[in-house]
Amino acid sequence: MTSRMAADVILETRHLTRRFGGLAANNDVSIHVRRGEILGLIGPNGAGKSTLFNLIAGAFPPTSGEILFDGTDITALADTHRCARGIARTFQVPRSFESMSVLDNVVVGALVRHAGPSRARLAALETLDVVGLAARAAVSASELTPPEKRRLELARALATEPKLLLLDEVMTGLTPAEALQGVELIQQIRARGVTVVMVEHVMEIVMPLVDRAIVLNLGEVLAEGPPRDVVRDPRVVEAYLGRRHHAA
Ligand SMILES: Nc1ncnc2c1ncn2[C@@H]1O[C@H](COP(=O)(O)OP(=O)(O)OP(=O)(O)O)[C@@H](O)[C@H]1O
Ligand SMILES: [Mg+2]
Repeated sequence: MTSRMAADVILETRHLTRRFGGLAANNDVSIHVRRGEILGLIGPNGAGKSTLFNLIAGAFPPTSGEILFDGTDITALADTHRCARGIARTFQVPRSFESMSVLDNVVVGALVRHAGPSRARLAALETLDVVGLAARAAVSASELTPPEKRRLELARALATEPKLLLLDEVMTGLTPAEALQGVELIQQIRARGVTVVMVEHVMEIVMPLVDRAIVLNLGEVLAEGPPRDVVRDPRVVEAYLGRRHHAA
């Protein structure tokens, strides 16, 4: 099924709502993601950021609304088919296959694009190199440090050769130096033509990196625009930044 979308838009959600019992985790969320951009998705805890990722990646269906990707309505597609079409995501809580090697974890992703195991293995090795984990290829995933596990998540997602990459708090727990490397890595990924949507709480990291930001609050889009406008928006300061400053 094809649907009318602007050519420079890779993803669009239309009136997306997801209820959990009485709670609307996403409520009438209509957003678009432009091809080739880095989009920041921010908002307080429980705002619905991960839920939106889950809906886009197909972890569960929306209660109502539509999701369009690359000119096609994908609302009814299973997650594996969305992945094959070019949507990849990382999980907020890393989900590696603990007993498998780091390499084999990434082979799982590469098999989406490469039917043969030897080709998938080669692609996985290249991806490990990109994320700086090549030296750890042979160790079991359970031996990785938490920041390395986030890199592994990223490698598995990248190995599927996505057009759209959804990153859910990949910088959490990193030292400032590691976060800086993470920023460079995301810039490299975008330079390879991948569109990136990233959820991130640390404003100092996310705001200089993104082309545009969307703020969710209580399941709804509160604001969107260039990062420097969004951080000055009084509604955003009230709902999110102000609260964080108070907490700090
Ligand atoms: N599977 C689920 N079942 C029931 N409620 C859920 C489920 N997933 C999310 N929720 C609820 O939906 C709301 C939005 O959660 P979500 O995880 O999307 O927020 P978030 O913006 O990612 O927050 P955080 O910054 O803490 O990760 C929360 O109230 C959460 O408890
Ligand atoms: Mg979340």
